[in-house]
Amino acid sequence: MSSRLQAEHLYKVFGRRPDEAVDRLRQGADREELRADGTTAAVIDASFTVEPGQTFVVMGLSGSGKSTLLRMLNGLLDPTAGQVLFDGQDLTALSARELREVRSRKISMVFQHFALFPHRSVLENAAYGLEVQGVPRAERELRATDALAMCGLAGWEKSWPDELSGGMQQRVGLARALATDAGLLLMDESFSALDPLIRRDMQDQLIELQKKLKKTIVFITHDLNEAMRLGDRIAVMRDGSIVQIGTAEDILVRPANDYVASFTRDVDRSRVLTADAVMDKDLRGDEADCGCETATPDTSFVDLCAISARVPHAVAVLDGKRRLVGVVPRQRLIGFLGDQQGEPTPCDAPRDKAVKAVKSDA
Ligand SMILES: Nc1ncnc2c1ncn2[C@@H]1O[C@H](COP(=O)(O)OP(=O)(O)O)[C@@H](O)[C@H]1O
Ligand SMILES: [Mg+2]
Repeated sequence: MSSRLQAEHLYKVFGRRPDEAVDRLRQGADREELRADGTTAAVIDASFTVEPGQTFVVMGLSGSGKSTLLRMLNGLLDPTAGQVLFDGQDLTALSARELREVRSRKISMVFQHFALFPHRSVLENAAYGLEVQGVPRAERELRATDALAMCGLAGWEKSWPDELSGGMQQRVGLARALATDAGLLLMDESFSALDPLIRRDMQDQLIELQKKLKKTIVFITHDLNEAMRLGDRIAVMRDGSIVQIGTAEDILVRPANDYVASFTRDVDRSRVLTADAVMDKDLRGDEADCGCETATPDTSFVDLCAISARVPHAVAVLDGKRRLVGVVPRQRLIGFLGDQQGEPTPCDAPRDKAVKAVKSDA
């Protein structure tokens, strides 16, 4: 059902002589140098793969090239150079008719301001994508009803869009995208216009839905917290280029450069990090089990703090076979809660205590 998506060395240049501009970019020119000639390098050499069922987030400031990148992924914009492979099929090589077919059946989009048709009911709005595909009325109404229910809008089918709040209208947009069964969902700042609480609610809903649906999702946002909540992997864009691709943890703990690091300062680390990122792994491989409370590598940072408060020494982290894979001294927790990156300063005393406690109980 879900699709694999690959971008290979994608470029998009707006303005005169775009091919020449791509050559200059390949030789190392940047966006600013091209701008002097009135040419905009919107996307520069973007490559990535989104595996089936993954949520891939593209994060960057306004103007960094996110929407342009997304429009190349669904074939709305022709790349100046590079390829988009959709389940191995080169989108850039399809005829206009084939491309329309792929777009209407296999890809659905949710925008920031979802334009609902004011004179159609919520149900008809949710069924619109299916109508375009030529699905008969009875079937499309059934599928749209299901999709609305998934998005928490059961009972609103007969309402008119203007009877719904902004958050609910956005849910109709999501339902429309889900009703079509498309394996690839492209979301451009879909939650950015919503109030913070509703936005969070929509993020939770998407996470829940995704557990069941396992679609391939490309989600665009300028908000790193949103990126980290939703993304299995995150690409950070700057001035048209992808400057880092990684998990939330990679970006938080191992930022590729100062630019990425500057974004992570406002991130609530306790919501992203797990024991695996925080623990001291020097003890890997020791067989041990202590009698007191322990953690696993995927224990959340918040739970780890709670355990640490109850345990008189560093917390032992055990894998599925109850083997010691690391320890977390309390000091280390505090270090990571600040903006500590990479290896924290060693703190042997508490670690030795943990080892002793772990070993004596083994
Ligand atoms: N059709 C276009 N013609 C010329 N320049 C464009 C066009 N679309 C986007 N751009 C420029 O490309 C850059 C990237 O834009 P965009 O992809 O919309 O960024 P984002 O979605 O990250 O805000 C911006 O400098 C923008 O002005
Ligand atoms: Mg945009």
